[in-house]
Amino acid sequence: MMQLVLTLVSLAVVTAAAVPYHQYILSPSSRTVRPVAIYAQHGPLTSEAALLEGHHPSGQSLVLDVFNSSVTYDFGKNIAGLVNLDVTSQNGSIGVTFTESSLWVSSSVCDATAGTWDDPPLVFNITSPGSYEAPRDKERGAFRYLTVVNLGTGKLSIKDLWVHFTAMPHWEGNELQNYTGWFHSNDDKLNRVWYAGAYTNQLVTIDPTRGDAINVIGVIINHSRSDDWRLNTTITNGTSTLTDGAKRDRLVWSGDMSIAVPGIAVTTLDLISIRNALDSLFVLQSATGQLPYAGYPFSEVGIVSFTYHLYALIGIANYYHWSGDQSYLDSKWAGWKSGMEWAAQQIDATGLANITTSADWLRFGMGGYNIEANSILFYTLNLGIELAQIEKDTIAADRWAQLASDIQGAAIPLLWQPSVGLFRDNETTTLAPQDGNAWAVKSGLVTSPSQVVQISTALQARWGPFGAPAPEAADAVSPFISGFELETHFMANRTDAALSLVRNMWADFMLDDPRMTNSTFIEGYSVTGELHYAPYANDPRISHAHGWSTGPTSSLTTFVGGIQILSNAGATWAIAPQLGDLSHVDAGFSTSRGLFSSKWSVVGNVFRLQITTPKGTTGTVGLPLPGNHTQATVTGGPLRGAAVDGDAAGRVWIDGLQGGEYEFVVSGM
Ligand SMILES: *[C@@H]1O[C@H](CO)[C@@H](O)[C@H](O)[C@H]1NC(C)=O
Ligand SMILES: *[C@@H]1O[C@H](CO)[C@@H](O)[C@H](O)[C@H]1NC(C)=O
Ligand SMILES: *[C@@H]1O[C@H](CO)[C@@H](O)[C@H](O)[C@H]1NC(C)=O
Ligand SMILES: *[C@@H]1O[C@H](CO)[C@@H](O)[C@H](O)[C@H]1NC(C)=O
Ligand SMILES: *[C@@H]1O[C@H](CO)[C@@H](O)[C@H](O)[C@H]1NC(C)=O
Ligand SMILES: *[C@@H]1O[C@H](CO)[C@@H](O)[C@H](O)[C@H]1NC(C)=O
Ligand SMILES: *[C@@H]1O[C@H](CO)[C@@H](O)[C@H](O)[C@H]1NC(C)=O
Ligand SMILES: *[C@@H]1O[C@H](CO)[C@@H](O)[C@H](O)[C@H]1NC(C)=O
Ligand SMILES: *[C@@H]1O[C@H](CO)[C@@H](O)[C@H](O)[C@H]1NC(C)=O
Ligand SMILES: *[C@@H]1O[C@H](CO)[C@@H](O)[C@H](O)[C@H]1NC(C)=O
Ligand SMILES: *[C@@H]1O[C@H](CO)[C@@H](O)[C@H](O)[C@H]1NC(C)=O
Ligand SMILES: *[C@@H]1O[C@H](CO)[C@@H](O)[C@H](O)[C@H]1NC(C)=O
Repeated sequence: MMQLVLTLVSLAVVTAAAVPYHQYILSPSSRTVRPVAIYAQHGPLTSEAALLEGHHPSGQSLVLDVFNSSVTYDFGKNIAGLVNLDVTSQNGSIGVTFTESSLWVSSSVCDATAGTWDDPPLVFNITSPGSYEAPRDKERGAFRYLTVVNLGTGKLSIKDLWVHFTAMPHWEGNELQNYTGWFHSNDDKLNRVWYAGAYTNQLVTIDPTRGDAINVIGVIINHSRSDDWRLNTTITNGTSTLTDGAKRDRLVWSGDMSIAVPGIAVTTLDLISIRNALDSLFVLQSATGQLPYAGYPFSEVGIVSFTYHLYALIGIANYYHWSGDQSYLDSKWAGWKSGMEWAAQQIDATGLANITTSADWLRFGMGGYNIEANSILFYTLNLGIELAQIEKDTIAADRWAQLASDIQGAAIPLLWQPSVGLFRDNETTTLAPQDGNAWAVKSGLVTSPSQVVQISTALQARWGPFGAPAPEAADAVSPFISGFELETHFMANRTDAALSLVRNMWADFMLDDPRMTNSTFIEGYSVTGELHYAPYANDPRISHAHGWSTGPTSSLTTFVGGIQILSNAGATWAIAPQLGDLSHVDAGFSTSRGLFSSKWSVVGNVFRLQITTPKGTTGTVGLPLPGNHTQATVTGGPLRGAAVDGDAAGRVWIDGLQGGEYEFVVSGM
């Protein structure tokens, strides 16, 4: 009979080293960024390579000989900022166009930030030789390709071209790579996805005075359009804020934050930008407790969204979870309670919320006893119970516990489709949505392990070559909702399915397809792999850097690294890695309490785990047993010498560990 030996070794405390795997970080190391390659050129011209990184200063100038001569430069990744030109000509006119995707490279227009038209070029009228910088409100929020075109009649010569990188405005230029977290495994696809998620969230962190690229008030309220584009709307207080998209909309959206915030927490721990964004939503809270669909100026449109209202409440809980800042929670508690009560008022005699405000993540048919909305409500009520305990508000905690229990009791019999293995969208349809099924698992509404596995299996069965579909949104692929689906597969312990989804959808398609930026994640596309996102009429409008598409970053840390923060900033934690087909993983991050890390390997029949957690914290380790073993003998630590059984999922749990450094070895003999 095969037996396992598990040894527990307490290691001496070692000072935390600098964050490793620096070479994967996509953020620039300085705010001055130059192109790395030539993507295209047109018309008579010379010395196009003179403006590339590494060639500068070459003493040579790019010369665009005649009207319409152009060069398209490639920065190798999505970047953001203000274009600068050092011109040696006496006169002339230079056009500059931008695009995130190579699909929209053009010398006459940029990709789009607004509705159904593309953006005009940025024009520099040259009146003397020297340096020209784009005006401050002509910051371009995201582009990989930049085309310079001669719009004059004579020769035009340019000695230098660079972009002043503007994302993460509150960090020093030489600190843009100062991550607090890392992830590395033996699968480079997963590593690249983790770092691209981290960088995407940096690119959508902007100067709050440079918000709103879509001229919302003009286009939506006033039904007028501006033919030009500019970034000059102040959307939050402070010096940095978290938005949805780098190119557009550059607005605060609470739904997007529900994916972006856990990703930021394990990569840069940029809490202030999250806080400025949340504050901008709460200053708009109505007397009835209702929170806006999005921040200013979109809030002026007056759209109400039940789910985004809840996501703003989730945002406060997430901020507290990762910061442990109780004074912030205290300051928001009255507003949080009134927001929770506004949502609770949508619950009718059945115990379920009947959704009458259809706005959501741009899916369709969001009404009635919708499973996504009720699952998010269930989840938020449970967060409310935790927060109410911290705020010593037992009346609220008891009331919300009853409401949550009623939702669970009513939703499952009304909406579960046993023969399909998925929930239906609402009481009048058989359509099985991606969002509601993922949220039913993520929220804990579904408690039966077999039902969780059924949902995960049925969602996987629908995957196409480009990812997981969202039938509730005209079969779009939504990297936002797929982030929640990814959590579903991990929660089902179907690690192989989860890793396949990251590899196929986020790495093979969203990074490696030549139409992508190979650095940041697109907001949505079609199941056929076309860069068409159902809600938008104009394909160049799609954002290629959207924080809501970064789900794998936090999931890889949480489930594969296995590091779970259970209470404020990690006062309590659990470390329970999921192995899948991986052999080596090294993950970590810091909170205000200190460093959390998990480094593991499977070599032959030996599983080895080294962890670090801060002094003063307590936690639990869940050790996977390799192969099909269900029993282990513990030869070290608190369980010294005891024969222990793995749980149903083949894991041995060691509770009550004090923060510190440990090594565990599980080996067959
Ligand atoms: C300018 O060049 C582009 C190719 O870069 C071409 O498609 C376009 O027709 C040209 N425009 C004019 C007015 O020659
Ligand atoms: C533009 O500059 C060139 C010299 O670079 C000069 O020959 C030409 O006359 C100037 N054109 C005008 C309109 O000033
Ligand atoms: C450049 O010159 C053109 C033609 O004189 C003018 O219409 C345009 O407003 C000028 N643009 C800028 C940015 O100065
Ligand atoms: C940021 O990183 C740079 C380069 O690694 C380092 O010199 C600097 O001390 C770091 N700054 C902070 C605040 O950690
Ligand atoms: C609405 O449109 C009118 C006319 O185009 C313009 O004068 C006004 O400033 C616009 N108002 C807003 C809020 O954009
Ligand atoms: C933004 O720019 C437009 C066009 O230049 C101007 O009309 C508007 O007043 C500016 N808004 C702010 C807040 O500066
Ligand atoms: C910015 O701060 C001021 C002063 O505290 C406050 O009145 C205002 O509502 C805040 N605005 C936003 C968008 O957070
Ligand atoms: C949900 O509310 C709407 C609007 O008040 C109402 O028309 C509908 O009948 C309600 N649905 C149910 C199932 O009660
Ligand atoms: C119920 O779900 C279906 C499918 O998503 C949708 O077409 C329908 O509009 C929804 N019902 C309501 C009341 O929103
Ligand atoms: C997945 O594994 C965890 C940890 O062993 C366990 O608590 C949970 O019940 C499992 N979930 C399912 C759906 O089997
Ligand atoms: C994408 O970026 C990675 C580095 O992150 C690089 O190794 C790879 O060659 C790039 N792929 C393409 C197609 O440029
Ligand atoms: C685990 O058990 C299954 C089913 O009995 C078997 O197919 C598989 O080979 C076993 N795996 C290992 C690593 O022993």
